[in-house]
Amino acid sequence: MNMIQINDVHKSFDVEVLKGITLEVNQGDVVAVIGSSGSGKSTLLRCLIDLEKVDSGSVLIEGDPLVENGIYAKQTDIQKLILKMGMVFQHFNLFPHLTVRQNLELSPKLVKKQPQEEISANAQKYLKKVGMLEKADAYPASLSGGQKQRVAIARALMMNPDIMLFDEPTSALDPELTGEVLETIRQLAEENMTMVVVTHEMGFAREVANRVVFMDGGVILEEGTPQEVFGNPKCARTREFLTTILK
Ligand SMILES: Nc1ncnc2c1ncn2[C@@H]1O[C@H](COP(=O)(O)OP(=O)(O)OP(=O)(O)O)[C@@H](O)[C@H]1O
Ligand SMILES: [Mg+2]
Repeated sequence: MNMIQINDVHKSFDVEVLKGITLEVNQGDVVAVIGSSGSGKSTLLRCLIDLEKVDSGSVLIEGDPLVENGIYAKQTDIQKLILKMGMVFQHFNLFPHLTVRQNLELSPKLVKKQPQEEISANAQKYLKKVGMLEKADAYPASLSGGQKQRVAIARALMMNPDIMLFDEPTSALDPELTGEVLETIRQLAEENMTMVVVTHEMGFAREVANRVVFMDGGVILEEGTPQEVFGNPKCARTREFLTTILK
């Protein structure tokens, strides 16, 4: 099943930062997006959940248009589509004045209006999944970066998304905390969650992703299996990037 279809998406701020992106994500895909700083990786993810508007092109989520040939769907439809995706950012974005459990329960309460019993059971389930149950009543300030990020993942899962988007989920973490977060994402992959992961962790991309997309200067320069992109990159620019990052 086609989960995300991006067709010829363009986006400019002062200059054009997405210059005709076309990408398809199918159910169960783990797509690693790699590329140097400023290549447009975050902007692309942000366009998927309507944090940025594209200028032209189409984005379809599970076959339904978020934007088609530059024309956006109705706000109510946009809202429904973006709820199919959970996003985890580089900087956790937890609410500091709420406990871990309250962070998880807020959106299901406000947005989904699920019954409290169901919300509590889900919070329990997802905190357990990311290994954070014992910190349920702690405040974010008392957690390590890795723990905060695992809570952010659990919080996104509370909305029962079909697709998870990660924007450099480990790049704000000390190296020793990176592993626990990648392990959580790896588990999701094993459960067949569809994911797009912007990452600088090439080892992780190689191991967990089934597809790797290399972005450069607002275009997708190369795309393939990890074996293809890492083992036998077609473009000189990809080789150059990999040499720099793997140093
Ligand atoms: N809100 C904005 N206003 C103006 N320019 C922006 C905005 N957001 C991003 N840009 C510019 O768009 C380009 C692409 O940025 P983007 O954040 O998508 O890159 P990236 O690939 O995620 O980089 P990094 O690896 O550093 O996170 C950059 O030149 C950036 O300065
Ligand atoms: Mg970025």
